[in-house]
Amino acid sequence: MKRLFFTAIIIFSLFAINSCYHDKEELIYPNSSSCKAATDAMGPTFTNVRNIINSKCGGCHLGGGSTAGYNFDNDCSIVTYWSEIKGSCVQPYTLQQMPTSGPLSTNEQAQITAWVNAGHRYTD
Ligand code: HEC
Repeated sequence: MKRLFFTAIIIFSLFAINSCYHDKEELIYPNSSSCKAATDAMGPTFTNVRNIINSKCGGCHLGGGSTAGYNFDNDCSIVTYWSEIKGSCVQPYTLQQMPTSGPLSTNEQAQITAWVNAGHRYTD
């Protein structure tokens, strides 16, 4: 019984230590070191998402528009709001469905998911 207790403590400690190594830089410092749009090369899956947003989110979240507080003119703002973009554009929706005119195509949704799964960075 005592041994089981110590094993549990050790396993718990390993999890605790492990979690420190997995701190996500972009969650702690959104918009800073994680997105260097000026110097880094735009990744292929991010490029797809940029194109989808350019063609489907204009009028409301582009060209200075910031409906509901979201503006995606800056590439880094797309990186910052990856979770909200997925939640509003990819089924099953966890936020208000976007764009307001109707859902993105299955292919467009898959492209957003692919970028998120790749790490949702500018360089992915
Ligand atoms: C015609 C204007 C329009 C377009 C185009 C549009 N949106 Fe929105 N967006 C809105 C409005 C209005 C709201 C606020 C909706 C609400 O709170 O009911 C909103 C809210 C949002 C939110 C916050 C959702 C929430 O529940 O908090 C996100 C994220 C978002 N939009 C992303 C996008 C993305 C990404 C696109 C393109 C794929 C897009 N929107 C296209 C008008 C638009």
